[in-house]
Amino acid sequence: GVTPKIASSMLSSDFANLASEAERMLNCGADWLHMDIMDGHFVPNLTIGAPVIESLRKHTKAYLDCHLMVTNPLDYVEPLGKAGASGFTFHVEASRENWRELIQRIKSKGMRPGVALKPGTPIEEVYPLVESENPVEMVLVLTVEPGFGGQKFMPDMMDKVKTLRKKYPSLDIEVDGGLGPSTIDMAASAGANCIVAGSSVFGAPEPSHIISLMRRSVEE
Ligand code: DX5
Ligand code: ZN
Repeated sequence: GVTPKIASSMLSSDFANLASEAERMLNCGADWLHMDIMDGHFVPNLTIGAPVIESLRKHTKAYLDCHLMVTNPLDYVEPLGKAGASGFTFHVEASRENWRELIQRIKSKGMRPGVALKPGTPIEEVYPLVESENPVEMVLVLTVEPGFGGQKFMPDMMDKVKTLRKKYPSLDIEVDGGLGPSTIDMAASAGANCIVAGSSVFGAPEPSHIISLMRRSVEE
């Protein structure tokens, strides 16, 4: 089934108070905490890695939805597994040679594998990973160029979401970038069920209102 999951992107949080920011988002109704791991190479920004995930895990039991914007995702599997990550979503652009091995190792560390694609990457590239005998369990469609929060949603990406939903009725389809009250309906009607939101939620006076509005849109 495709249940709605609202994931707060902690990239928009106060990193100096990560544990309390995470707790605040969960109290506001977030299902997942979206953790953007960037290596300063795959994308022009550097954020957090396994040590921060390990520290956060000591403060929360929440689902840690890790989005790996890194050139060598395989190097992160063991450390993130040990750190207590829940989901491990790697980029198809960074795993053309080794996605089978990656999926297998992610699962062996008790994490849930997902694949992400950048706006310029055709949707067909993820089909083999979804249709494999040992498949990914989620596809993350980037709706901005990865690297930074607070960018403008790209409506053209909704064709990818529609195509995926038609082909795979029960797949978890996540959208990430520029999601908020003015864009959620486009994403939900295209068929996305996992919604990442950073700046729209953290910038709101009442994050709980934004989260429940987005959940209702997906449920409709
Ligand atoms: C972009 C990240 C996103 C980002 C979303 O590289 O993958 O998760 O934090 O932020 P907003 O919701 O502000 O676009
Ligand atoms: Zn992300």
